[in-house]
Amino acid sequence: MTSGPTAGALAGRPALLGYVDPLSAVETIRHHPGRAMTSDRPSTVPPGIDPDRLAALLDAERARWVQARPRAAALRERARLSQLHGTPQHWISQFPPPIPLVVDRAVGARLYDTDGHEYADFGLAATAALWGHDHPAVVAALRDQLDRGSVTLWAGEDHVAVTEELARRFGLPFWQFTVSASDANRFALLLARVTTGRQKILVFHRAYHGSLEQAGVVLTADGEVAPEPGVDPNGVDVRQTTKVVEFNDLDALERALAPRDVAAVLAEPVLTNGGAVIRPEPGFHAALRDLTRRTGTLLIIDETQTIPAGPGGCTREFGLDPDLITMGKSIAGGVPAGLYGMSGEVAAAAERYTEHGDGGLGSTMAGGPLAVRAMRAVLTEVMTDKNYAHMSRLAARYERDVAAVIAEHGLPWHVGRLGGRVSYAFTPAPPRNAGQLYPRVGSSARQALWLYLANRGVVINAMSGAALMSPMTAESDVELHGALFAEAIGALAAKKGR
Ligand SMILES: Cc1ncc(COP(=O)(O)O)c(C=O)c1O
Repeated sequence: MTSGPTAGALAGRPALLGYVDPLSAVETIRHHPGRAMTSDRPSTVPPGIDPDRLAALLDAERARWVQARPRAAALRERARLSQLHGTPQHWISQFPPPIPLVVDRAVGARLYDTDGHEYADFGLAATAALWGHDHPAVVAALRDQLDRGSVTLWAGEDHVAVTEELARRFGLPFWQFTVSASDANRFALLLARVTTGRQKILVFHRAYHGSLEQAGVVLTADGEVAPEPGVDPNGVDVRQTTKVVEFNDLDALERALAPRDVAAVLAEPVLTNGGAVIRPEPGFHAALRDLTRRTGTLLIIDETQTIPAGPGGCTREFGLDPDLITMGKSIAGGVPAGLYGMSGEVAAAAERYTEHGDGGLGSTMAGGPLAVRAMRAVLTEVMTDKNYAHMSRLAARYERDVAAVIAEHGLPWHVGRLGGRVSYAFTPAPPRNAGQLYPRVGSSARQALWLYLANRGVVINAMSGAALMSPMTAESDVELHGALFAEAIGALAAKKGR
């Protein structure tokens, strides 16, 4: 049944402090060293949004956030003495709230903060908590394994069960364990170089594949390759290591691969990190595979963020046939872990390469029994057709709610979905590449929306605004989001005729 957001959805929202004096709270924020928190006029306002209303709402929501979180504010001050930016990972300081969300506990698809607020969590740790924070199957597996050892540096029966299942689902015969998706990509790229004897790699503009200097690159306005803004120099001459083209640009891809000096194309099957869900155009994947094969280039598909597409990721959904596959995040249900799978050809080269040493592959903590036990539980009990059906159904509802608000206000925005993942772009049509979405259109609007929702009990991804549905997500939370999104846009949209 299609139903839009209802006022009823708002009835059960968590109670937050009532009246907030924005000015006094703003003053409090101003006295914090570090970021300029307030009254910075929005720099990039998306079409359809009133800049004055946006600036006022942003100030009010920031003030409301700070005013209702004295414990989080105190903890931040303490953290400043021992952490960069006063945050355990530096990027938290770039998220929208003026003081970070301090989580007391994460249960199911909900977060509870240290100041007593409860949130429906659609951010789900940027896919790492995709199954919910404490899926019963994962918790039971971990409890059992804790009594049997967490790291051994030896093989186990669970390891074989996991690699057999991965081979069945994703089609590649040989697999290795890592600690993270970043490591999986690092090792996959190394093996691509070993297999082909070539040095360069190719990534798509604004893709993100983890903390890899060689892949953290962008195309400049002049079409040059450069490290991501802010990380130059990064110790690697990326102009020597990496080529970059826009997603969906097959002509540029063909030109880049023609010299036959690229070891591998590292690609998300659907670009999720470029600011929205950016889908491959019809024929893109077939052409990508054909061009890579014709030029002797390997193809690495990074499924880290696209596992919400289906029980075999996009590889199975789209019938892809890559040489290597990488993943991490959600695959061990919240325990740090990553994996890479490879074809027989790559495995043969890798076996020769590692015959006499480690070759820079591996990590002591990779494939620890705790992580692998959790992976087995995820693969057999959580990544089921039934759970995927629930995630997709709720995501479709979330998408419809957003689309209805966009249509009601005549906003030239687009909302897109990949299985259980939904995100919107400030473009009238589905974006075809990330270049269309940069320089970051609408960052101030994203901040305002994030704060508006979070101040009322809904958390979405703090960087991209994307939402994820877990098997533990409740439909009432999706309904709540729809109602709040409608309210927020009602407060931000330019009045017709202005
Ligand atoms: C597509 C993709 N690959 C790899 C990674 C790296 O994951 P991790 O940070 O867990 O190593 C990310 C992280 O966001 C990602 O989005």
